[in-house]
Amino acid sequence: MSAADSNLNVNAAVVAERRWAIVSVTVIVFILAIIAFTGIHWASMPTSGIEPIDPTTLHVSGEFVEQNLGTQIRSDGSVIVRMIAQQYSFNPQCIVIPAQTKVTFRSTSADVVHGFLVTGTNANAMLVPGYITTFTTEFSHVGDHLMPCHEFCGTGHAAMWAHVRVVSLEDFGRLMATKSGIHCD
Ligand code: CUA
Repeated sequence: MSAADSNLNVNAAVVAERRWAIVSVTVIVFILAIIAFTGIHWASMPTSGIEPIDPTTLHVSGEFVEQNLGTQIRSDGSVIVRMIAQQYSFNPQCIVIPAQTKVTFRSTSADVVHGFLVTGTNANAMLVPGYITTFTTEFSHVGDHLMPCHEFCGTGHAAMWAHVRVVSLEDFGRLMATKSGIHCD
């Protein structure tokens, strides 16, 4: 190999190295730009759908008064369930809902963070004091489910649970005909 050839090789290596350096710096700058953009974007536009509630009003006034707890049918025919979690129980202790129907759950906590989980279903949420947790789901089969608290909330955590009874639409209609705001017997 002549001296000129080896000089050419060195030059080619320097060019390739510089090219790779540009590529990796571009990737790093791109990632930093994404971090900066999402950080500023989220800071300037807080998540929508956050519903605050004053925990001291629970049971006393507003949406979560005693007669609103449990299952109700709204004026548009949809089914809504309201629950309050507190150390160490859910109120109501047992709820009845119809199968194959969209059910909206609205719950909150009176004290610390609790978990909302209907076993064997996709109903799984966190109940944070000061906020209303809302989600809509549908239960396909008739049956009973346990609803254990799944966020550690204190010494009584392991004993904190409720029951969910999924009944047929006909049975649910019969129950609703007798009273509004139903729980299990
Ligand atoms: Cu409530 Cu754990």
